[in-house]
Amino acid sequence: MLIKRTRGWELPERAATPEGLYLERRAIVKAMGLGAMALAAPGLALAQDDPTAGKYPAPRNAKFGTPGPMTPEKLATTYNNFYEFDSDKSIWRAAQKMPIRPWTIKVGGKVEKPFEIGFDDLLAKMPLEERVYRHRCVETWSMIVPWSGFPLKSLVEFCKPTGNPQYIVMKTLADTKSMPGLGDVIYPWPYTEGLAMDEATHELAFIATGLYGKPIPKQNGAPLRLVAPWKYGFKNVKSIVSIEFADKRPVGLWEKLQASEYGFWANVNPQVPHPRWSQATEKPLGGDQRIPTQLYNGYAEFVAGLYESRKSEKLFM
Ligand code: MTE
Repeated sequence: MLIKRTRGWELPERAATPEGLYLERRAIVKAMGLGAMALAAPGLALAQDDPTAGKYPAPRNAKFGTPGPMTPEKLATTYNNFYEFDSDKSIWRAAQKMPIRPWTIKVGGKVEKPFEIGFDDLLAKMPLEERVYRHRCVETWSMIVPWSGFPLKSLVEFCKPTGNPQYIVMKTLADTKSMPGLGDVIYPWPYTEGLAMDEATHELAFIATGLYGKPIPKQNGAPLRLVAPWKYGFKNVKSIVSIEFADKRPVGLWEKLQASEYGFWANVNPQVPHPRWSQATEKPLGGDQRIPTQLYNGYAEFVAGLYESRKSEKLFM
């Protein structure tokens, strides 16, 4: 993610990550090529040790199609955003230090009864399936990957919200022992994101616990992360430890940091530029050429209706 660090008391304008630097980093990654990436096999050895490995691959749900050629696994698992480790894209090695067992998820806020549940117990209760989705980062890179997991709606029902809450709020683990990025105090940790309840219970909203037919690698958000494919990637909070139901709209990490650039809705729209760059096109990971970005990242037929009554809001940032 690119931020403009404008807080006068903290960092000068020149400290902002310039887009050129980001693009240069991409060029280096590309120049390294798949050969260099193949030296390591991130997440592969790991997946075999995972107690849930036997659950994958899950049956494919083809309702949402296969939106194009899939991104090579090695790219999707070595080019990541996970700021708790570092703001660099190559955090996959560092992420292996994150402890993912035992893993407890706290459920609270407007629910019949607050509770905690271990990840393996939760997974045993959820209907597992695989979906191939587009992913579009606000930085303009994109990928197409097969997630395994379950509909967020199933998780919402399991949590038994009550009193008509308007939002679901999810937070990432903040473990200072394994996550060196937490030392960067400019970021308002823990990583927090949320959805309106009608988005959360929409059939496209998904909780991913697997990737490429195996348990999801740590760098991609093990053991569970949100996938809302019609939104910019920053909405997809990784490594979730807390779920709350609330009436108050949550302010996510990026919005808190830079509300003029990152908002709550963050729906993909090629016609609404980011304040500092165009969103008209995107660069698929591993591809040579930019391709046009699609409204709602290609999922307009499913989700456009969610926003009919919200047209006065900033839906696309
Ligand atoms: N979740 C946490 N906890 N920390 C992060 O830095 N980055 C977000 C999102 N979820 C992020 C996060 C951004 S900007 C993107 S694009 C996606 O994760 C990247 O997911 P990937 O690394 O699996 O491709």
